[in-house]
Amino acid sequence: MYKLTFISLQDNRRLECTAQAQSTLISAVRSLVSDGKLQLAWRCGQGTCGACKVRLEHAGSGSMVTLGGKEKNVMIRHAGLAADSPLTIPDTPELVRLACHIQIKSDLTIYVE
Ligand code: FES
Repeated sequence: MYKLTFISLQDNRRLECTAQAQSTLISAVRSLVSDGKLQLAWRCGQGTCGACKVRLEHAGSGSMVTLGGKEKNVMIRHAGLAADSPLTIPDTPELVRLACHIQIKSDLTIYVE
């Protein structure tokens, strides 16, 4: 189990929960969202619509992250990633990611709009 800490960029409100290793971030928090405890926009739940934008910090922050081709394409269309970006890019808290594509492999701090 890993610890997830959500921080709202609008009012700095924090919410903590735990999640199973290797689950996707969106699947780990669906019940929190549907119960109204967490404000995280999502629509498709399958990594195609680009609605579930988050920024995150984790143990790998500061190194490089390799995006899947599908995530890269959705990020180009919906998250401002440059079309000529390589698949492997710096992993920073400023990088917009999609909760549908994030596999939980460590404790995470997730910033949501
Ligand atoms: S909800 Fe559609 S990409 Fe995540």
